[in-house]
Parts: sequence; C-alpha cells; structure tokens
Amino acid sequence: MIPPTAPIASLLHRPRRLRRTDALRRMVRETRLSPDRLIAPLFVVDGRDVRQPIPSMPDQFRLSIDRLVQECRDLAALGIPAVALFPKIDEALKTPDGRESLNPDGLFPRAIRAVKDAVPGLMVVTDVALDPYSSQGHDGLVRGGQIVNDETLAILAEMAVVQARAGADVIAPSDMMDGRVAAIRQALDEAGFTDTAILAYTAKYASAFYGPFRDALDSAPRADDDVPADKQTYQMDPANAREALRELMLDLDEGADMVMVKPALPYLDIVRRFRDAADVPVAAYQVSGEYAMIKAAARNGWLDETAAMTETLTAIHRAGADVILTYFARTFAERF
Ligand code: PBG
Repeated sequence: MIPPTAPIASLLHRPRRLRRTDALRRMVRETRLSPDRLIAPLFVVDGRDVRQPIPSMPDQFRLSIDRLVQECRDLAALGIPAVALFPKIDEALKTPDGRESLNPDGLFPRAIRAVKDAVPGLMVVTDVALDPYSSQGHDGLVRGGQIVNDETLAILAEMAVVQARAGADVIAPSDMMDGRVAAIRQALDEAGFTDTAILAYTAKYASAFYGPFRDALDSAPRADDDVPADKQTYQMDPANAREALRELMLDLDEGADMVMVKPALPYLDIVRRFRDAADVPVAAYQVSGEYAMIKAAARNGWLDETAAMTETLTAIHRAGADVILTYFARTFAERF
C-alpha cells in the first residue's frame, strides 16, 4: 500500500476558495440569465376558451386566441419581452400550396392582431414557413419530389408582409430556403415595413428533437410517392459546423437583424462560433424535444426539473446566446 503523503504546507492555487460560500459564488458568477433574454413559444388554435394539452410537451397547450391573449398578459407581467407564435391550422385548410398562410383574416393574423391590441408592449415574433399550412408538411412547395426553393421564396415574402401588416414586430423565417432573408427584407421594405425586424433561423439543423413540436401542430412531413419523409434537403446536417458559418455570412449579407441556432443544447459549439463571428444578437432555440426530455425525466423522478431547466438555460447563455427561445420561459420567470 502506498502511504498517504504528508499534507501540502502551501498550495498556492485553490479555486475552491471562491466556491466556499453562497455570497462568494454569487459575487464571482460569470453569467446571469434573466427573463429579459427569453422568448416564449406559444401555439394558437381556432375556437374559444380552448386550452388543449400537448401530450409530448407537458404543461404546454394549444390556446385559442382569447386564452392566448391571457397567457401573453401574464408573460408580459412576468417580464418576458417577447412571444414566438405558431398556428395550428385546421386540417381542412391545409393544401399543397399552403395558401391559407396568405389569408389576411386567417387564424394567424387574427392572433397576432389580438395580442398586439391587448399587450402592445410585448414583442410578437412570427414564424414564416409553409409547414403549418401544407398538406404535405413541408416548409416549402413540393414539386416532383423536390422542395422547390425559388418559387417558395415568393410565398414566404408575401407571408411575412401579411404578418407584418397584422402587427408582427419580428419576422422569423424557419424554412431554410436559400435567399429567403433577402426576399423577405425586400418585400417588407416595399410594403413600408422598414422597421419590422428579421430573426433568421440561420443554422437550423435536421434534428430529431422537433418531434413534439410536430405533434403540437400536426405538421410532420407526410411521406408518399412524391413527398420526402424528412427535411434533410433544406435543414442542415447535424455533422456540419463550417457550413453554419457560411449560412451566417449569407444571412448577415441579406440583412438579418438577429441570427439563430436551433436546437440549442446539442449545438452549443455553433452558438459559440456565431457569438464570436457575428456582431448581431445571437438567439438559440431550446426546442420541443429538449424540453420534453427534461419534463419526461423529471416526471419519472429521475431529474430535478427546476435544476435541469436552470442549468441548461444558463449553459445556452454561457455558450453565447443573447436570446433564448424556450418553453420554460414562464416557469423560469416565475422563479426568478
Ligand atoms: C417548422 C418549425 C419547426 C420548429 C419550429 N419551426 C419544426 C420543423 O422544422 O419541422 C421546431 C420547434 C421545436 O421543436 O420546438 N418551420
């Protein structure tokens, strides 16, 4: 047996000295997350007084506009600066060309208007992509088994204008078509919405972690003869990091006001690279699957939900995200 060595008389460097008390730890803490940085994603559905639970996203609901407005008032009172809205479109309104996305009196523009009327100080971020409106569940138009890029751009640009007209503060294209930031910027400017900002889903990966979101909107790609079963021809390959920087340069050139990495926790290296390479605010989206994993483990008694929430959100902020989209926004703010 090796005898224990004599205690060291003097150890110059003892990082534990600054971890000794709560006061010391608070004093030297490097990052501090506040509700100011959080955007709450919310799902809106047609009807009145509707609050449908989403089974794969515990404590998240599809809300009718009246309930949505109520939720937005609460979030604003809690200090959350913005919500990101997503519409759950009636099956009967879904078409291959997703034309309901351009209906100025459709569910989504009505929801945007209602929130802005009731809580004008709360920023409304709106989703631009075809999938909620598409009978095929794709973010772009499908022709001959392909998601066609340039024809999709015209629809996305028009969709952005419809949303801006309804009162959207920030347009967030999540579709990953090439050139959509430029197309949207030009259409917004031509329509007079020069102050409507663009938050680009710049590095959006083809991720397994979007499953619960697709349940919420019933928007999963529906494979048949002509339609690919996944989004790999437009969303990014999870194996690629340099390519994310290329997307970043393009979106900045095209006029993105903010850029996003999505999902968040599995892509913290990308968040850090964006923070180092860009001067605009960087957002990260803690997506539905990241949320569901924590919720499911906590419900099994395998994780402490509050601790896991705080740790993951702090990590995303520490990695370089200025802004975080998270389904925990309300819970975090309530505990702040
Ligand atoms: C689609 C869109 C998706 C999400 C946001 N916008 C899903 C997808 O690309 O299929 C996912 C968000 C989440 O999982 O929380 N335009």
